[in-house]
Amino acid sequence: MKREISGIVEKMKPSGIRAFFDLVLGMKDVISLGVGEPDFVTPWQIREAGITSLEQGFTSYTSNKGLYKLRLSIAQYMKNRYGLVYSPDDEILITVGVSEAKDLAMRTILNPGDKVLVCSPSYVSYGPLVELAGGKPVYIDTRSSGFKLSPKALGKAIDKKTKALILNYPSNPTGVSYIRKELSEINRVLLKRNILCVSDEIYGDLSYDFEHTPFPVLSGAKENCIYLNGFSKSYAMTGWRVGYACGPKDIIAGMTKIHQYTIMCVPITSQMAAAEAIHTGRKSVEEMKREYKRRREFMCDGLTKLRLDYVMPQGAFYFFVSVKNTGMSSLKFAERLLKEEKVALVPGTAFGESFDDYVRISYASSYENLKESLIRIGSFLNRRKGRG
Ligand SMILES: Cc1ncc(COP(=O)(O)O)c(C=O)c1O
Repeated sequence: MKREISGIVEKMKPSGIRAFFDLVLGMKDVISLGVGEPDFVTPWQIREAGITSLEQGFTSYTSNKGLYKLRLSIAQYMKNRYGLVYSPDDEILITVGVSEAKDLAMRTILNPGDKVLVCSPSYVSYGPLVELAGGKPVYIDTRSSGFKLSPKALGKAIDKKTKALILNYPSNPTGVSYIRKELSEINRVLLKRNILCVSDEIYGDLSYDFEHTPFPVLSGAKENCIYLNGFSKSYAMTGWRVGYACGPKDIIAGMTKIHQYTIMCVPITSQMAAAEAIHTGRKSVEEMKREYKRRREFMCDGLTKLRLDYVMPQGAFYFFVSVKNTGMSSLKFAERLLKEEKVALVPGTAFGESFDDYVRISYASSYENLKESLIRIGSFLNRRKGRG
């Protein structure tokens, strides 16, 4: 029976990452450089806080907004680290990862037909979430500006229906980030044209070449910005599902309304663990960051030796690598590499249709895996040259 479902959902494509990784499932001895997930286990004292909270019988709902002590800790952290003042009462919301926060943000700010600017290539969920909220994603191709949004391209893309820009830095899938001056220029355009900034800074702690600048610290930006962050990447807590949004009261109130009807609250065990993370986890964050940086250097060297082109990533844990010279499409490259050498990467088209000449490599994998995968990619490329 053909059942009619929502037109928006019917048109929505499944995530390109998932589609490709269905192929990987069931294959043996594959080195996966595909998923964007830390290979570290959550630091012990954070796990222990979760366990202890269960032992002590903390099994109830929390406030819809999230545990007060966690919101307070986030407020203190934002103040101490960045000088940003957010009230734990009504300017911070605890969400199920940044994933839920993005969805809430879109549903709160958009009216049907409103446009949202998205830098392309982009993280897979931005476009679909804008559409689900009744909006229209407008993609700005950043290929010609080193995968960075230029103020000029931003200005050109804005029209009367534009409501917001989703910015993500350090970026998934390219790893590029912005220095303060570049962000200030973007901010100036947004303020002048009255466009909101939804800033996904989930990789903010993994910035290797310069200090990360949160968007709301820029002049006049705080009241115009929904700042999103979470525990998944920097604290290796993907499975705990904790994120947060900081923003203007009216927007956080709107997001909280949707959250209270759909989610109610983030599981209390996860919130307890997150509170521990923010208090005692910074040393582990710095240690993991050092290791990612070491791997970045190693991959940088290896990919250069293989004569593969990329823009140097400044943060996160990805390389967006051009496979143009191989003459293969991104999907062909990824499929053949998987079949012949058992290395899994993500085809560039997962991050934007026009990126068929790129693949994304995640270096959130052990040093040994990275070493072995470079050898395998080398054999794969050499065989093709041999046939050349
Ligand atoms: C840019 C970006 N934002 C958000 C997320 C989702 O994070 P969370 O686990 O907090 O939902 C990811 C996960 O890969 C990501 O890369």
